[in-house]
Amino acid sequence: MARCAKLQGVPAAGESEIVVIPLDEPGLGRLLELAAAEADPLEVMPPVTGPAGWTDQRRAAFLAFHRRRSLDPDTAIESTWVIEVDGRTAGAARLKPVSGPSALAVEAGVWLARSVRGRGIGRRVTEVLLESARDGGSARFVVATTTVDNAAAHRLLTGTGADLDVHGGSVDARLEL
Ligand SMILES: CC(C)(COP(=O)(O)OP(=O)(O)OC[C@H]1O[C@@H](n2cnc3c(N)ncnc32)[C@H](O)[C@@H]1OP(=O)(O)O)[C@@H](O)C(=O)NCCC(=O)NCCS
Repeated sequence: MARCAKLQGVPAAGESEIVVIPLDEPGLGRLLELAAAEADPLEVMPPVTGPAGWTDQRRAAFLAFHRRRSLDPDTAIESTWVIEVDGRTAGAARLKPVSGPSALAVEAGVWLARSVRGRGIGRRVTEVLLESARDGGSARFVVATTTVDNAAAHRLLTGTGADLDVHGGSVDARLEL
């Protein structure tokens, strides 16, 4: 997608150099190894039935998930970027166009490796995602979903000025661009 290029060259946060790179097949392999080492499956992909942890089945589902949604031009529905911090794969960010009830919206998502969380990287990547969504021109809202117990995601989302709607265990965020 053309929008990918606009996300390259994220400004550095603090002492770290942060860049986001459009997902490709080698990047997907690195992302899987990172996720398996430094993230819970439910933080980075939809639930997969079976024993807990990064089983072969979940690894295969992670690859299939990104190939279907981002890499295969026949089925792609979103743009995904690999986040690199100081030259190392550190997480992923995504934007997915969705049709809201009255206006086009984009759904945003970010996950980071445990070892780089809490350093302001999620905040900087979110700023760039929002900028990219604005630059896209057609979306009027950015939406995101998290769980009520995800304090970091709450802070991240409220910090953008988004309205939060809590229902059951979920929190839906909506920000006018
Ligand atoms: C959510 C996530 C992307 C945030 O990225 P991050 O780099 O750790 O967050 P930042 O350091 O930029 O901090 C963002 C805000 O959250 C706060 N925060 C960070 N970690 C926190 C924690 N463990 N508990 C409470 N608040 C926290 C920060 O203080 C900051 O708030 P402020 O700007 O009001 O000071 C990251 O924690 C993550 O990958 N979590 C797992 C996946 C996930 O939940 N994704 C979000 C789905 S919407």
